[in-house]
Amino acid sequence: MLDKVKELIGEVNDFKATTKEELEAFRIKYMGKKGILNDLFAEFKNVANDQKKEFGQALNTFKNATEGKVNELRASLEESNLNASSLNDLTRPAEPISLGSRHPISIVKNQIIDVFSRIGFTVSEGPEIEDDWHNFTALNLPEYHPARDMQDTFFIEQNPDILLRTHTSSVQTRYMENNEPPIRTLSPGRVFRNEDISARAHCIFHQVEGLYIDTDVSFADLKQTLLYFTQEMFGKSKIRLRPSYFPFTEPSAEVDIYWGLETETDYKITKGTGWLEIMGCGMVDPNVLKNANIDPTKYSGYAFGMGIERIAMLLYQIPDIRMFYENDVRFLEQFKSIN
Ligand code: PHE
Repeated sequence: MLDKVKELIGEVNDFKATTKEELEAFRIKYMGKKGILNDLFAEFKNVANDQKKEFGQALNTFKNATEGKVNELRASLEESNLNASSLNDLTRPAEPISLGSRHPISIVKNQIIDVFSRIGFTVSEGPEIEDDWHNFTALNLPEYHPARDMQDTFFIEQNPDILLRTHTSSVQTRYMENNEPPIRTLSPGRVFRNEDISARAHCIFHQVEGLYIDTDVSFADLKQTLLYFTQEMFGKSKIRLRPSYFPFTEPSAEVDIYWGLETETDYKITKGTGWLEIMGCGMVDPNVLKNANIDPTKYSGYAFGMGIERIAMLLYQIPDIRMFYENDVRFLEQFKSIN
């Protein structure tokens, strides 16, 4: 008797149905009023007392297996039915494809590239792990130069020094080494500084470097290019150049744009002045040209560098730089409609 039940359990487990009719026949055979299950339960009273426990357990297993089988097959037949019928309806609307969004850093980087590519700049890149020569020395920042302190550096190795580049100006040197003037290049990329992380500063951020070398390049060319950029990028046409210092440019300047004081936010982000600093720039120092084997008596040029996060924070009113690196989809999804 017990063996018979075990055999039946095996049979039930192996059963497969391809149509609803087959499944219904199976159900009636096992679970119907006059089905095998009921018969067996009726047998129960005739089983010897000492075997009742074992027989009862086997019977319950059999019952559960049968019910489970019927439910499982019913669900899978229904599903395949559904698939078959929906495939037949070719007018059915497509499943919406969920598109991701570009990261705001990429959006702003692409916008900057777009603006400058219209006036002949091409894109170049350099390594994030740099040697001392390209990041500092060739840029007129020799060892022990106090201006090295302006950029707190992550060193990977010392003597010879290998470091995480502190600015994209390192690409200036690399590009000049490998290309002849005229040069018009834009170098976007990630840079690293040993900064305390706060709402306004991070140890990793992004810059875009611009470099223009040709015969007879003047400061007026630089100024006009910057004006063109601020008009295209921000729709603002008032800028000012504040004298500043960078070892690799001479003269050097800090570029401010007049943002205005129309709203409370304007007031806050410009600290009540209406002016906002957006980048550093200057005429390439003749020593830098010499270091890259470009004749400074024949060629001159300008360079500029700006932080992408800073510009993205301005454009999208992002209050905290850390938001760029947290990968919170609630933040990232807000850029879905922008390319
Ligand atoms: N490299 C400078 C910085 O990171 C910016 C800069 C680039 C200034 C090019 C002048 C010319 O602060």
